[in-house]
Amino acid sequence: IQWFPGHMAKARRQVTEKLKLVDIIFELVDARIPYSSRNPMIDDIIQHKPRLVLLNKADMADKAVTKEWVRYFEAKGVKSLAINSHKGIGMKEIVTASEEVLKEKLDRLKAKGVKPRAIRAMIVGIPNVGKSTLINRLAKKNIAKTGNMPGVTKAQQWIKVGKELELLDTPGILWPKFEDQEVGLKLALTGAIKDTLLNLHDISIYGLRFLEKEYPERLKERYNLDAIHEEVVETFDEIGKRRGCLMGGGEVDYDKVSELIVREMRSEQFGSLSLERPADLLLKEQEETVE
Ligand code: GTP
Repeated sequence: IQWFPGHMAKARRQVTEKLKLVDIIFELVDARIPYSSRNPMIDDIIQHKPRLVLLNKADMADKAVTKEWVRYFEAKGVKSLAINSHKGIGMKEIVTASEEVLKEKLDRLKAKGVKPRAIRAMIVGIPNVGKSTLINRLAKKNIAKTGNMPGVTKAQQWIKVGKELELLDTPGILWPKFEDQEVGLKLALTGAIKDTLLNLHDISIYGLRFLEKEYPERLKERYNLDAIHEEVVETFDEIGKRRGCLMGGGEVDYDKVSELIVREMRSEQFGSLSLERPADLLLKEQEETVE
């Protein structure tokens, strides 16, 4: 998707319209980049609607860091949960956590003697965070199919998730953050945006620097490196020679090395990686306050 102001306004309108239909928003983010994969205007768009942050693709993230993120959101008064939509891990917990978020409201109804209906929810998130995968997981065989004729506006369909939850069948797709170069690089490294939007060398250098700093042993092991070099180009040279990323004349082909690093980071060849920690964000928030 190419996001232009008109598309953003439309996306925002679509989410805003559906807000009225639901009790709770499931904000889906990528557990490897819970800050960078959030929509920049999410708070403004969903206002005070109760929400549950779902840290999806938790299988690809560093477990210890994911725990830090859960605590980070908790400190902000936002309930969050690590899930793996691909394998269906954490699905029951989504229902329990939703009830927890809405506890006061549900208790009030019960006190009045009203039996609460199923909780109604909608998923929102930026492209590629796993919205469809999660919907399909939760739906199992419970999608209420109705006629879907071209030209006829499809009524909202609800997917029943057990007795306790009903989910809108179409997610709200919101745009990612663009303004920050580092955010863009992280989005590209996790495959959330196409490489063509950014320079592949920039993405791979960012990835390499990250591995050098956070996971040097995994990097050395993967490419049989003698050491972590001061200069990125030295590391590129070494990887190129070890992996045969060479040009006709035998010199190292940096394009190929870049592609290799990015591809291997995305496909978990370095194990589970978290590209950002709450501490980085707190630092950023402090800097912004100082400015
Ligand atoms: P858009 O339609 O572009 O908005 O994407 P989406 O948010 O619906 O994402 P989608 O469900 O298409 O998932 C994107 C990719 O992530 C797919 O290749 C999924 O298989 C993968 N994926 C989704 N959830 C998980 C997860 O929990 N773990 C892993 N490893 N992969 C996942």
